[in-house]
Amino acid sequence: MQPISDQLSTDLTESGQRKMDWARQHMPIMAALREQFEENQPFAGERIGMAMHVEAKTAILAEVLAAGGADVAITGCNPLSTHDDVSVALDAVEGVTSYAKRGVDSDEYYEAIEAVIEHEPTITVDDGGDLVFAIHEDYPELLDTIVGGCEETTTGVHRLRAMADDGALEYPMFAVNDTPMKRLFDNIHGTGESSLASIAMTTNLSWAGKTVVVAGFGYCGKGVARKAAGQNANVVVTEVEPRRALEAHMEGFDVQPMADAAACGDVFITTTGNRDIIVEEHFEEMKDGVLLANAGHFDVEIDLETLESMAADTYEVRDGVQAYELSDGRRLNVLAEGRLVNLASPISLGHPVEVMDQSFGVQAVCVREIVENGDAYAAGVHNVPDELDIEVAEIKLEAEGIETDALTDTQQEYMDSWQHGT
Ligand code: NAI
Repeated sequence: MQPISDQLSTDLTESGQRKMDWARQHMPIMAALREQFEENQPFAGERIGMAMHVEAKTAILAEVLAAGGADVAITGCNPLSTHDDVSVALDAVEGVTSYAKRGVDSDEYYEAIEAVIEHEPTITVDDGGDLVFAIHEDYPELLDTIVGGCEETTTGVHRLRAMADDGALEYPMFAVNDTPMKRLFDNIHGTGESSLASIAMTTNLSWAGKTVVVAGFGYCGKGVARKAAGQNANVVVTEVEPRRALEAHMEGFDVQPMADAAACGDVFITTTGNRDIIVEEHFEEMKDGVLLANAGHFDVEIDLETLESMAADTYEVRDGVQAYELSDGRRLNVLAEGRLVNLASPISLGHPVEVMDQSFGVQAVCVREIVENGDAYAAGVHNVPDELDIEVAEIKLEAEGIETDALTDTQQEYMDSWQHGT
């Protein structure tokens, strides 16, 4: 496959560069790491393969890794989330080749992943696990030369842990998703803000007074539920995990099974990372005009195949909104084809820039750790060392001009001791 600049017009470059310039201005962590990497060239001689949502913030991560000496090849991790102008602009950055394109079919999606793999990466950076999986499945000869990799999202980490449990994961992977600097901000605030913003902008409808059903009260679900409540919606949460259901209840949300929530919701947002969350029995109960959106990684949370088979008619009612009209006249409106609504709607921008600065800060220091100490990690999924996460937090605090207290020696000694009692 040809790089994106050979597939699309380079007239897109300027628009992509403007988006990248704006993101760069608001990413102080990436700026600090860029300075460090430019000076030390930690990635010289490394080939980094990436499969991520190719939009402006991701482009800044790729250019920072390239500035540190890496040869970077990148493609998308979702058929609908690429910004073509950013992909073209990124392809023009020295040291980066981009294959990402919006609106690809399944064959083209995997061809682009293969194109990245053909660069023979020594390090992989993934969002959802498709790149790592494809390497293990189809290019086992590369496994020996790959030093390690990083995974961005919950679903990808789940997949990797399942691979590791089966003894199938052949190189070390950092669970970037699981760090405080990532999931307490990106999953909670990022998904909450950007999902609600994308739905509101796509539909031009209000949250106030609506009943919003949030499936899953994990990190993403908490963010979506809290922000929806903050917009004066009535929020109903569905869960399968008893403690998370209780947590939602204690935060004041109405907790119901989906079978009950289906009849009362105006807007449904799935955030479970699981499949078949909204299915036929739920479609049967829904009101006319409901909105159905998914914020989980894969498009398997809303059973669109069944909805399609139930529909008497289906048509695009607005950009990014497909109406499924049932034989009794009810219209169920699906956003972004059931794919990540905050990234895959036509006007979606993904998470706020500041949030991605943190997530990608963790990615960048993890790539540095793989280069510097990769041999210390066995094949499998690894938690990101806490000091790396703290390093990223400290850069951010400094950029924000926020000072904190430090433990005194006496306090440190007290905290480390088991002898102090009543
Ligand atoms: P999590 O594991 O913290 O939360 C998932 C929750 O869903 C859990 O509480 C689980 O008990 C619940 N759940 C599972 N099956 C369910 C069912 N049948 N009904 C109701 N609840 C159910 O995961 P997290 O971090 O919230 O991520 C969720 C998904 O969102 C993943 O696919 C992740 O990759 C994706 N994600 C999406 C982002 C975006 O930009 N849209 C950003 C970050 C993560």
